[in-house]
Amino acid sequence: MNKINGKTKLIGFFGSTYKSSKMYKLYNTAFEALDLNYCYVPCAVDDLEKAFSGVLHLGFRAIGVSFPYKESIIPYLDELEPEAAAIGAVNVVTHQNGKLIGGMTDGLGAVCALEEVVKIDGSTVVVLGAGGAAKAIAYELSKHHCSLKILNRTIEKARDFAQKIDAQSNGYDILPQVVQQADILINATSVGMYPDAGACLVDESLMSSKITVMDIIGKPHETELLKRAKRAGSKVIYADRMLLHQAIVKFKYYTGVDAPIAVMEKVMQDMRE
Ligand code: ATR
Repeated sequence: MNKINGKTKLIGFFGSTYKSSKMYKLYNTAFEALDLNYCYVPCAVDDLEKAFSGVLHLGFRAIGVSFPYKESIIPYLDELEPEAAAIGAVNVVTHQNGKLIGGMTDGLGAVCALEEVVKIDGSTVVVLGAGGAAKAIAYELSKHHCSLKILNRTIEKARDFAQKIDAQSNGYDILPQVVQQADILINATSVGMYPDAGACLVDESLMSSKITVMDIIGKPHETELLKRAKRAGSKVIYADRMLLHQAIVKFKYYTGVDAPIAVMEKVMQDMRE
């Protein structure tokens, strides 16, 4: 247990999964490993506006934000970082000199997970989906020199966002062609998520050893898409690798210190078992 005293810096978590999420274990073990006087606390929020007044008046250092508050918290913040402003969603809030500043680091975590196994610069990347997660990932990818294609069921959503980041956008009618030409494929839709785990937008025959496939769905661990990709000989990246990197990025954001990656990796592994 971390040593708690009057100098302990508090990091809160606001999200509907505050009772079930085990991320507090990840952060608190990492703080302890580096002997940092921080404590990560999941918070039961019943009134978002008052909760943010609490953040200011209780001196919380930062808040990790998840569903359903990623968009609804924006009116209570003083400033948004460029990623959060472009995507229209926030996953971290820092308290700096009496101001609440919203950031969005989900995309960076996903891109770090990709970069472990594949070179993004010079590649053709297909993102399936145009919801919050897809936008965060596509925005971060757009900082790289890659050809970026966003496909979504609701074409207008893909088109509006793609225009902002200089990406191409389409519906799923052209999915077979673009997937066959892609180096990287990312499923950022909810298709294939438990309990509808058999669902998948991509035929196995479209994938090969040439492509790296990442799925942001964590439940099930191995989605139907990743099963098909593996059978086709593709490299696959599981969602928990993305979650680990998202946590590593947030740790630095919260503390200003590089995360103890091996420690966090071990906790993530223990949480899965
Ligand atoms: P998140 O914040 O997790 O990204 P979201 O904003 O609700 O969640 O986005 C869900 C994504 O999954 C969207 O791209 C959605 O497509 P639409 O924009 O057309 O709704 C996609 N999605 C959900 N169910 C789908 C389905 N049955 N077929 C295809 N796409 C689907």
